[in-house]
Amino acid sequence: LLGSSAWCCSETLSAERIEKALNSAYEKYRNLNEGANADYIPALAEVDSNLYGIALVTADGRVFTAGDVKSEVSIQSISKVYTMALVMDQQGPGALLENMGVDATGQVFNSIVAIEQYKGAEMNPLVNAGAIATTGMVQGKNADAIWQRILEKYEAFAGRKLSVLEDVYESEAATNQRNQAIAALMHAYGHIDEHYLRATDIYTRQCSVGVNARDLGIMAATLASAGKNPVTGKQVVEADNVPEILAVMATAGLYDDAGKWLYKTGLPAKSGVGGGIVAVSPGKFGIAVISPPLDAAGNSVRAQKAIADISNALGGNPY
Ligand code: DON
Repeated sequence: LLGSSAWCCSETLSAERIEKALNSAYEKYRNLNEGANADYIPALAEVDSNLYGIALVTADGRVFTAGDVKSEVSIQSISKVYTMALVMDQQGPGALLENMGVDATGQVFNSIVAIEQYKGAEMNPLVNAGAIATTGMVQGKNADAIWQRILEKYEAFAGRKLSVLEDVYESEAATNQRNQAIAALMHAYGHIDEHYLRATDIYTRQCSVGVNARDLGIMAATLASAGKNPVTGKQVVEADNVPEILAVMATAGLYDDAGKWLYKTGLPAKSGVGGGIVAVSPGKFGIAVISPPLDAAGNSVRAQKAIADISNALGGNPY
């Protein structure tokens, strides 16, 4: 019974089974016409809404793909996970817990009400306020040094050199007054130092890093394999920090829809308004889907459906 059960820990997923799950989800949602590109960042409205790619990377480093896994979109909020990992490695797991906390807000990702409720505490590194504060905690002697550290961390997770999509950066930098206000409030309440506008700018830059579905699949799989990139073989975040990262992804990765998502899949995940979602089945696989049209909570419609189907077909739910 143990060997045949979908949840059994010792089961190795066969290539055939993974390919079948990927191809079937790819086809099923290819013609779906729901949701809309984010447009509050003008450059995101211009991205091809039909872009659709899936990558699943097993904890033992096998890469499976369907659709377009070469075109890049901006990583957006998925970056928050990897800056969180950097700060945990630099300052230990307690630093974020003490600064902004690790509780889901139940509010939209850029909520100001959520900041006001507990004066910038009792939130988490995956909503904008907590994420800008997290970027503000990255150590480095100046903005350039801080930025290099962040980019290098993302590159280690992806296993290749990455670069900023400058048009997306320019577009968001010109329209991010709300995030500047969020950062100012977080400074007023003592969660970011006086360089809060610098933190906002670096955060905007980190959100504009270009990634394809394959990159995101590997970044997810690195969290599925206790912080060791299964493709490059490098340990890129301390293994001890991974359970805490996954916990915050589980409770807050899809914002106010995190509960619904966890109910359906059981998977820690993170979305970005560029259209990507990464999800992690610990010890088994990381999966990523890119598809720009979003629902009202800011999560890719196709990505949620495809990941849920694939993970459920492969026994990815850890519960
Ligand atoms: O700060 C922002 O609004 C964007 N750079 C990122 C937001 C985001 O990706 C929310 N995710 N679904």
